[in-house]
Amino acid sequence: MSASLPKIALRITTQWRRFEQLSSAALYELLRFRQQIFVVEQRSPYPDLDGLDQAAWHLLGRADGNFAAYLRLLPPGDAMPAVRIGRVAVAAAMRREGVGRGLMTEALGLCRERYPRQPIRLSAQLHLARFYESLGFTATAAPYDDFGVAHVEMAMSPATTLPPECLSP
Ligand SMILES: CC(C)(COP(=O)(O)OP(=O)(O)OC[C@H]1O[C@@H](n2cnc3c(N)ncnc32)[C@H](O)[C@@H]1OP(=O)(O)O)[C@@H](O)C(=O)NCCC(=O)NCCS
Repeated sequence: MSASLPKIALRITTQWRRFEQLSSAALYELLRFRQQIFVVEQRSPYPDLDGLDQAAWHLLGRADGNFAAYLRLLPPGDAMPAVRIGRVAVAAAMRREGVGRGLMTEALGLCRERYPRQPIRLSAQLHLARFYESLGFTATAAPYDDFGVAHVEMAMSPATTLPPECLSP
């Protein structure tokens, strides 16, 4: 599946890819992007390569051909009945222009299309909880520390009404 949607800010074009659809160059690019933001920029020595990428949907965002935004979506499985969104990241130079919200609405749209009966979960960095609340998530537990970064577990039930932009074709 591939998309270039006006709802994503500016000139970002997005593509959904399953792991096996990623070229080795694209895989290297997305791992380097995640490492730069979550490990280097956020100074958090966490194990980014957690063995879950192989089962994930990967949303790649590019601006003028350059890697600019990313998230992954883990389908529900036997061990986890919920869909899980994670690694939401926008290039530092492109933040606060609506790209992150656009990525999330695209991910929620895919969740509703493919997994309409599953709850959606994510582990939010605590200072972004309001952003995720504005999309329909609520905190499900007390905040916790994850490799030096405060997080809170959040969930959205399948009955939650999504913001209208998530549902447009
Ligand atoms: C979090 C991140 C993806 C947001 O992307 P973005 O393109 O800047 O987000 P948007 O411009 O679409 O803003 C979305 C909302 O988040 C809020 N927000 C963005 N950055 C924020 C910050 N640092 N602190 C608090 N709120 C923030 C905005 O106020 C905005 O709310 P609004 O739409 O009501 O104004 C981006 O800052 C990023 O990549 N950060 C580093 C990686 C990271 O921390 N990822 C989050 C993992 S849970």
